[in-house]
Amino acid sequence: MDLSLEKIINNKLSQCFEKLGLNPQFAVVKVSDRPDLSDFQCNGALALAKSEHKNPREIATQIAAELEKNSDFAKVSVDGPGFLNLTINDSLLAKVMENMSEDERFGCEKVSTPKTVVLDFGAPNVAKEMHVGHLRSAVIGESVQRIERFVGNKVISDTHLGDWGTPMGMIISEIMLMHPEWPYFDDNKTEGFPESLPYDVEELTEIYKKANAHCKEDESARQQARIITAKFQDGHPGYRALWQHLRRISVEAVKKNFDALDVHFDLWLGESDAHQTCYEILKLAEEKGISEKDDGAVIIRLDESNKPKPPVILQKSDGGFTYHTTDIATVKMRVDDLKADEIIYFTDKRQALHFEQVFEAVEKLGIAPGVKLQHIGFGTVNGPDGKPFKTRDGGVMKLEDLINMSKDKVRESVPAPEEAEGFASVEEARKYIDNLVEEIAVAAMKFQDLKNNIASGYAFEIDDFAKFDGKTGPYIQYAVARINSIMRKAEAAGIKPGKVIISNKEERELALKIAQLNTIIMRTHHDKEPSIISDYAYTLAQAFSSFYNAASIMNAETPELAASRLRLAVLTRDILKQLLYLLGIKAPEVMLKK
Ligand code: ARG
Repeated sequence: MDLSLEKIINNKLSQCFEKLGLNPQFAVVKVSDRPDLSDFQCNGALALAKSEHKNPREIATQIAAELEKNSDFAKVSVDGPGFLNLTINDSLLAKVMENMSEDERFGCEKVSTPKTVVLDFGAPNVAKEMHVGHLRSAVIGESVQRIERFVGNKVISDTHLGDWGTPMGMIISEIMLMHPEWPYFDDNKTEGFPESLPYDVEELTEIYKKANAHCKEDESARQQARIITAKFQDGHPGYRALWQHLRRISVEAVKKNFDALDVHFDLWLGESDAHQTCYEILKLAEEKGISEKDDGAVIIRLDESNKPKPPVILQKSDGGFTYHTTDIATVKMRVDDLKADEIIYFTDKRQALHFEQVFEAVEKLGIAPGVKLQHIGFGTVNGPDGKPFKTRDGGVMKLEDLINMSKDKVRESVPAPEEAEGFASVEEARKYIDNLVEEIAVAAMKFQDLKNNIASGYAFEIDDFAKFDGKTGPYIQYAVARINSIMRKAEAAGIKPGKVIISNKEERELALKIAQLNTIIMRTHHDKEPSIISDYAYTLAQAFSSFYNAASIMNAETPELAASRLRLAVLTRDILKQLLYLLGIKAPEVMLKK
């Protein structure tokens, strides 16, 4: 038996269509828009009316008469111009619940032909501290990574560090001004470079700010930074050594941030790793005759028949490669070395044009035949004023500060270790609570991000995002912990999960909700839109709440009902945990509330 209820119904419907000589392609149901009328609806009769030269109601009535013979349907009706409304039998629903709970994937299907999907997200820039803009890329990318793996694709995630552009040249140039005595700047020197650089990432950020200011006001500083960039890209030993230091310091800081967010990558490559391939791209473009010289630079002109589009600059007049070139070269590497079938990029949607240009150049170069390239652009994280989120004093909000701020917020609603009950010592309480605060804070931040449609920006709900009620991460975590506690009590009372019996409206609603799981996950995978899962997790937690309030497990009317309800509770808990996992959120065993 198929484990997905929707598929089971589609199959039954299909058989019925075939029997009546109707095209089974239209035998598709969806969850009813009117749950008061039916569980599922099918609009197939309307679609068939034309080719069948019949009135849709007539076709629907014919189908309904056939379906009524099937005992799995409790009610079949034809409504409006020819909608089929289907209500399934409780016994079928109960059977589906049992099958789902016996399967470790809860009956969720896998993609029929697994693909190698390269995900490019996080993507911080070396020497610049991560800010809230990187939060979205990391959070969305991590969730999509988990979802793609769950549906059976082979995922390779790569941070694609911004470690190769002019900012690096700017910083080196600034350090040169600060420390002319350092050995790095000598053109031929390869010895005497210190083992490490006496800076941390915050100092580097300050140096970058200074360099930026210099370059803004002074053309010669800009020129100098460009020369240094070209030289270090070309392999100048001292600049390269300095660059290695800068990169290492930044990567350490970035790793700390990503770890705190429970975001993980298979590869820590960067723009720099594409450098050699950039030359290949240059050569290929020339061979194919798609590049041209323009004012000393090498460019690829793009198709402008639909809209004006700036050309791609492959090589600047000073010999340096651009953000476009490294991205084009990286596509080639991902296709050649990683065998990517799909490459998906997650950045702020303001980079949409960049990716349009890159994808078009890739197409012209023919370096990724049949590979699907997709840019998923997201909106900004805003403050209460609707503008990009800032610190109180108007500065850029650093990711680390944001995490700390979230933790402080969460601490307001959990007990202090000294007041927490049920721990052997204050020390033990502190350990549990510190970890709990972290898990709740990350859940709050991630869920608030993932409950929104990717393309739209959102306001950071400073007062509400970490609340235990409402559509928040902590609310779902709380729902899981609540079921954990129910399970502990049930176990103590000797109740074991048993055969599923649907005995009231709330049980039925919960079961129907659970039965949607496969459709929800496949839709999230297809649309690359984790908000579909967060939305579902929220309504599932709510359905559980109504179910639990309506009928007791501990004081159920019969032992059979207690066992059935416990089984539904366990299934709900396991699914909620799975959903949280897919959103990149942990589910603490026990939650503590002040
Ligand atoms: N480092 C870039 C930034 O911070 C994002 C890079 C996105 N990935 C890419 N392959 N271009 O804006």
